[in-house]
Amino acid sequence: MAGGLARRVAMVAEARAANPGAVYIDLGGQGVQPAPRPLIARALAALEPAAVGAGPDDLLELAPWADLPLTSLTPPTTGPAPPASRVVEAGGVKVAVLSVAFGPLTTRELADQAATAIAARRAEGCAVAVLLSHLSATSTERLVDRLPAADRPHLVALATDADEPGDPYEKLGATWVPLAHKGRSLATVRLVPAADGWAVEVEQRLVDEGPVDPEVQAWVDAYHAAQAVTAVAASPSPYPRPSACLPCHEPAVTAWRGHAHGRAVATLEAAGRLTPDCLPCHDERYRREQVRSAPPDAGVECATCHGGLAAHLADSATPTTPATDCLTCHTPEHSPAWDAPRYCAAVTAVCAPG
Ligand code: HEC
Ligand code: HEC
Ligand code: HEC
Ligand code: HEC
Repeated sequence: MAGGLARRVAMVAEARAANPGAVYIDLGGQGVQPAPRPLIARALAALEPAAVGAGPDDLLELAPWADLPLTSLTPPTTGPAPPASRVVEAGGVKVAVLSVAFGPLTTRELADQAATAIAARRAEGCAVAVLLSHLSATSTERLVDRLPAADRPHLVALATDADEPGDPYEKLGATWVPLAHKGRSLATVRLVPAADGWAVEVEQRLVDEGPVDPEVQAWVDAYHAAQAVTAVAASPSPYPRPSACLPCHEPAVTAWRGHAHGRAVATLEAAGRLTPDCLPCHDERYRREQVRSAPPDAGVECATCHGGLAAHLADSATPTTPATDCLTCHTPEHSPAWDAPRYCAAVTAVCAPG
């Protein structure tokens, strides 16, 4: 939703124009879904990276689609293993990059492999950057503890909010780059030779703020268009729809049709995203049966929140029952401004207008 791929390509081009350098992408362990893999691999290639770090599964999944300079400290369970580290060279500075993600290795094995790879690259005169992806605070601490002081990296990037630097990280004496903000951050790192090795300068931006690369955006739009669920359910609805409430709750139904919940499918249509990724929270019938609804009964419906409707329709003295909890859909990712009293008051105003 932040336009991640198209914005990243445009922002990296900007950063490159301002500071000639090399691009290192670390995917960490993303769990990339099958459908978008070719699109993601193509957008990664458009960044012209010097190295791409990835978790063991993503490596396997992305490799067939692009000739990417992959690296991973954690080997895939099957297939050829990429190099444990790669050297990214810019402005006469050589930086060895290591991607540490969870996989079949134990923390002890990871630490041993990291120490070996770091020592080998140090011997070649490289600065060392390590990305720790989605390791728990405990695993990170163990990993750090096991690295000899001389093998400690200059730069450590962290892929999750949970990995925010705290006490265990301070011990490492490295520069920390939390790439958090739900994966929406982009870091420009400058390495300056200093008396005791390298001074590391980091500048962070959020992708939401950046421009969009039109060519990559066109690939993304084409991908979503191909995913779109075009067929609308032909079968009768197995549960009561808002129109069924109209005879007795006309004000509520009218208010609902004008509210975000009553327009949730229209929103996706306007965004060109009537896709299986987006429909489950925006289209009640899709959530239940994986078939799309048509207006005027399309959206987050009465039946999303009110259960027992068939019995209530048969006898209106039969009370309805609570159905789906708000937070099922109002997750931090999709509803960052969630505020229970305000949001609930807005829904009550729809259901009991005036
Ligand atoms: C099935 C998923 C789902 C459930 C359950 C759900 N919502 Fe929503 N809600 C949405 C979606 C999707 C939107 C945005 C629709 C749009 O704009 O297209 C939304 C929008 C809203 C809005 C409008 C926000 C705005 O800025 O205009 C309010 C208020 C709201 N929901 C409150 C609630 C409350 C309170 C509950 C629980 C009683 C609830 N929702 C349950 C999916 C859900
Ligand atoms: C987990 C449930 C969920 C999924 C999946 C989901 N949405 Fe939403 N969406 C919401 C909720 C909840 C809101 C209302 C947010 C609010 O107002 O607080 C919303 C609001 C929106 C809005 C209107 C507000 C805005 O940010 O402009 C758009 C557009 C939108 N969603 C698009 C999408 C697209 C595109 C996808 C698929 C990539 C998607 N949604 C997937 C739950 C979801
Ligand atoms: C996002 C969830 C949600 C949706 C969608 C929703 N309602 Fe409600 N509704 C509530 C909540 C919460 C209340 C207040 C608590 C309660 O009475 O269960 C409520 C209350 C009501 C009431 C009682 C109002 C009063 O006078 O106290 C009626 C009637 C009602 N809803 C009808 C509808 C109808 C009809 C629709 C569809 C057009 C609908 N609701 C859609 C959540 C929802
Ligand atoms: C034949 C008329 C009629 C129809 C159709 C009808 N209702 Fe009602 N509904 C009522 C009456 C009357 C009450 C008030 C019942 C009471 O207070 O005893 C009521 C109360 C409610 C309430 C608040 C009390 C409760 O049970 O939680 C909700 C919510 C509600 N209806 C939802 C719906 C929804 C959703 C639909 C459509 C699927 C619907 N109703 C269809 C007549 C109807």
